[in-house]
Amino acid sequence: ELSPIDKAKFVAAKRAAEFVEDGMRVGLGTGSTAAWLVRCLGEMVREDGLKIRGVPTSTRTAELARDVGIDVISLDEAKWLDLTIDGADEFDGELSLIKGGGGALLQEKIVATASDQMIVIADIGKEVERLGAFPLPLEVIPFGWQTTKALIEETLVSMDVLGRNTTLRMNGDVPYFTDEGNHILDLHLNRIGNARQLSLVMNQIPGVVENGLFLDVCDKVVVGYGDGRVEIRD
Ligand code: A5P
Repeated sequence: ELSPIDKAKFVAAKRAAEFVEDGMRVGLGTGSTAAWLVRCLGEMVREDGLKIRGVPTSTRTAELARDVGIDVISLDEAKWLDLTIDGADEFDGELSLIKGGGGALLQEKIVATASDQMIVIADIGKEVERLGAFPLPLEVIPFGWQTTKALIEETLVSMDVLGRNTTLRMNGDVPYFTDEGNHILDLHLNRIGNARQLSLVMNQIPGVVENGLFLDVCDKVVVGYGDGRVEIRD
């Protein structure tokens, strides 16, 4: 028996899987919600003979996808994707997202951007009026990361952003490493006023590889509720 939150994630994933068609090259997201999707697609491959090729957004997802029987290829083999389905940490009314809570934002953004369509799957708890309560992840190069962090904080001050507290993501006692060998700085902003400007300015800072704001990328959000209901926002 699933908990309400897992049920919400599961029903969203199951509904989103219906958008996947034979022959598609599909971007496979990362996180607990995306894991439900990968399991659903695996079942469709094994039991209904669905023919797809999947491009995973993390080593974790790659492993799960192979385990459930999905044909895994690299993004360069796929070149372009028909559809990417991924989770999110927050989404707003314009379908702007914060992603990267699971640390895979860089590959997720590359894959989502290389797709004709991106569908987000999320439980209703991820919906927000305004982005920013969830800390915004920035992927930074390990070289000089403390200097990069100081520069990010100075830049936030100059932009009059109120919450400026940034923290290095840890994995126990050591810094967290992404699949690409980078670190993550989490920006505790509380609310993001101008996401577009923030995204552009952050990506200009040397040492910052990418940020977790996904703007104009998501086409649809499939929202799941704890009682099994599903809604589609587009
Ligand atoms: C992974 O890097 C994130 O972008 C995930 O999409 C996000 O953290 C959602 O994860 P859950 O589905 O586990 O909430």
